[in-house]
Amino acid sequence: MICCWDLRKHQVIYISNDLILHRMEEHLRLVDIWKTYDGSNYVLKGISLSVERGKIIAIKGRSGSGKTTLFNIMGCLDKPTKGEVYIDGMKISALKRKDLANIRLRKIGHIFQSHNLIDDLTVLENVMLPMRLAKRKDAKKRAFDLLAHFEIEHLASKTTREISGGELERVAIARALANEPEILLADEPTASLDYDNSITVLETFRKINAEMGTTVLIASHDPLINNYVDIKYKLERGILTRV
Ligand SMILES: Nc1ncnc2c1ncn2[C@@H]1O[C@H](COP(=O)(O)OP(=O)(O)OP(=O)(O)O)[C@@H](O)[C@H]1O
Ligand SMILES: [Mg+2]
Repeated sequence: MICCWDLRKHQVIYISNDLILHRMEEHLRLVDIWKTYDGSNYVLKGISLSVERGKIIAIKGRSGSGKTTLFNIMGCLDKPTKGEVYIDGMKISALKRKDLANIRLRKIGHIFQSHNLIDDLTVLENVMLPMRLAKRKDAKKRAFDLLAHFEIEHLASKTTREISGGELERVAIARALANEPEILLADEPTASLDYDNSITVLETFRKINAEMGTTVLIASHDPLINNYVDIKYKLERGILTRV
């Protein structure tokens, strides 16, 4: 088998007997990512990863192993101490602030481990916010549809201080899906959910993956995710390995 790299389209093409078998489109690429917060202890130690468009990837690892650190770097919210992130072949460190903000708003949906919802806004306003920023005309209807999908539409007018942890989680997931992201980064998305709600969330990821080709990366300890992912990695002592 011959493996070619199509520079123009950032694609790897596998060719066997002059027949193109599979065209892999690289969606996200990490090149030798190192991260230290204090200048001496490295949380991430030379992580390289190529994620094909439309795959569902799990990243496991013990508490404190650096999953959230890695997700914040992949989500272009934090910069690596060393190394490069590429999204659709674009070198993130070379982008202007405005372009980076656009990628975060339109291409990436980020479910934060700590939810990062805005306490002074209602549940509905939180879910509508990224759609308002993206100037979507259907923001209100889509926000209601997403809340209904996760069975929390009755909480629309409550503030985030007035709802439970599992409800907050579902609001955060609805917000991350609002702008139909190409890449979904889900940091412990089922951590505060019961079994039924965890299944709803994981089925939703699989549905958007199948219907829209969304690339999904999930950081999780939850064994439930095993049935929903294509490829699993483990993060241990700053090193990422495929399992
Ligand atoms: N902003 C920060 N400043 C300093 N140290 C940090 C910061 N964020 C994380 N750390 C440290 O980096 C290490 C990895 O943290 P991280 O949150 O990435 O782990 P994690 O794998 O997501 O853990 P968990 O499963 O508990 O969510 C920890 O030792 C943590 O104390
Ligand atoms: Mg974490």
